Amino acid sequence: MTIDRRNFVLGSLAAGAAAACGSRDRGPTAAPVPAAAPAGAPAATTATPSKSILVLGGTGFLGPHVVTAALARGHKVTLFNRGKTHPGLFPEVERLQGDRDGHLEALAGRSWDAVVDPSGYVPRLVKASAELLAPRIGHYVFVSTISVYARHDVIDADESAPVETLSDPTSEDVKAHYGALKALSEQAAEAAMPGRVACIRPGLIIGPGDPTGRFSHWPTRLAEGGEVLAPGDGSTPVQYIDGRDLGDWIVRVVEARAVGTMNALGPERRVTMRSVLDDCNRALGGAARLTWVDAAFLDQQGVEGWSELPMWIDNKGDYAGFGTLRNARAVAAGLTFRPIADTARDTVAWLATVPEAERGKARSSGIKPDKEAKVLAAWKARK
Ligand SMILES: NC(=O)c1ccc[n+]([C@@H]2O[C@H](COP(=O)([O-])OP(=O)(O)OC[C@H]3O[C@@H](n4cnc5c(N)ncnc54)[C@H](OP(=O)(O)O)[C@@H]3O)[C@@H](O)[C@H]2O)c1
Repeated sequence: MTIDRRNFVLGSLAAGAAAACGSRDRGPTAAPVPAAAPAGAPAATTATPSKSILVLGGTGFLGPHVVTAALARGHKVTLFNRGKTHPGLFPEVERLQGDRDGHLEALAGRSWDAVVDPSGYVPRLVKASAELLAPRIGHYVFVSTISVYARHDVIDADESAPVETLSDPTSEDVKAHYGALKALSEQAAEAAMPGRVACIRPGLIIGPGDPTGRFSHWPTRLAEGGEVLAPGDGSTPVQYIDGRDLGDWIVRVVEARAVGTMNALGPERRVTMRSVLDDCNRALGGAARLTWVDAAFLDQQGVEGWSELPMWIDNKGDYAGFGTLRNARAVAAGLTFRPIADTARDTVAWLATVPEAERGKARSSGIKPDKEAKVLAAWKARK
């Protein structure tokens, strides 16, 4: 199957790309990170001393999971943003208003134990905030992406894999150069605070709060029931991370003051598209019948992996390493994974609470019903 490279983007912008902490590959160092409480368990208060944490952003998708986990673990949070995205969130938390692009005044003269930066995409802006804050913070956690990686054809690649570069390093076109700009942003943070930066490289972030609607296609479609188009032969390895597991772990990375580059995706053991869809289907009542359709046939029918069939890419050629990135560093540093069944159930429950206007967007990814029906009919006719 052909895949438009621009569509394979793992970010909160359009569709996505892959990751490192500066040009030197740094493994994590720090005290061991304490394990998360089991999913569903009451939030445990941290045994570590309360920290002051500045979140640059904090009100989109991942940011709220970081803030919620930090507050639950007894930390003091400050948000810095423009006040545009979900302005009513976290009224109990200190909020500084400004703009990463040229208006950082509200940060001047302030100190924090750590900064979490989920909203940095442009190296110039990451450099500006990191340099301003460097003298008065201890630790900078930069949220990057696996889209920093230059290639996706290597099986079992780890954090030492080469990252994307830009022929014009002054470009700030995030849509066109998401991975390369994230890689340069990692390097900008590391240059401003050598040895004090954790670069977190998540894979596809899923679960409640996801505004992209990518993973949400699967639980909503499976919950509707009937015959569901499933991609390939089911054996494709897939990786993802529930935003709540990621947010909780980022806070524990802060507590441990861990630094270095870590791929943040799971689960711990390799899973396939078939096992994921079967688990989700069971969790949602088992009303769906999955029909697995050959990748080459999907290609002939003009069906796009990743965008129309989210989470999945035909893992051949340039994408032979898809779904096999190593996550051993993050797991050793305490990253844990709730069952996909929980994520599926919680995503459907969350979507039911989202205002109608937002729900459309949160469900906008995935193959449209009439196209799915046509492709399924053609597949059967062919057989
Ligand atoms: N989604 C995925 O599957 C995926 C995969 C891999 C990596 N990632 C990475 O994960 C992160 C997800 O980020 P998120 O959007 O969920 O983070 P977030 O922190 O929850 O939301 C973005 C925040 O940035 C603020 N912001 C935007 N522009 C700003 C500016 N110019 N100045 C100050 N604040 C600004 C927004 O508030 P205002 O609008 O009010 O300013 C908002 O609070 C990204 O780094 C992405 O690259 C995502």
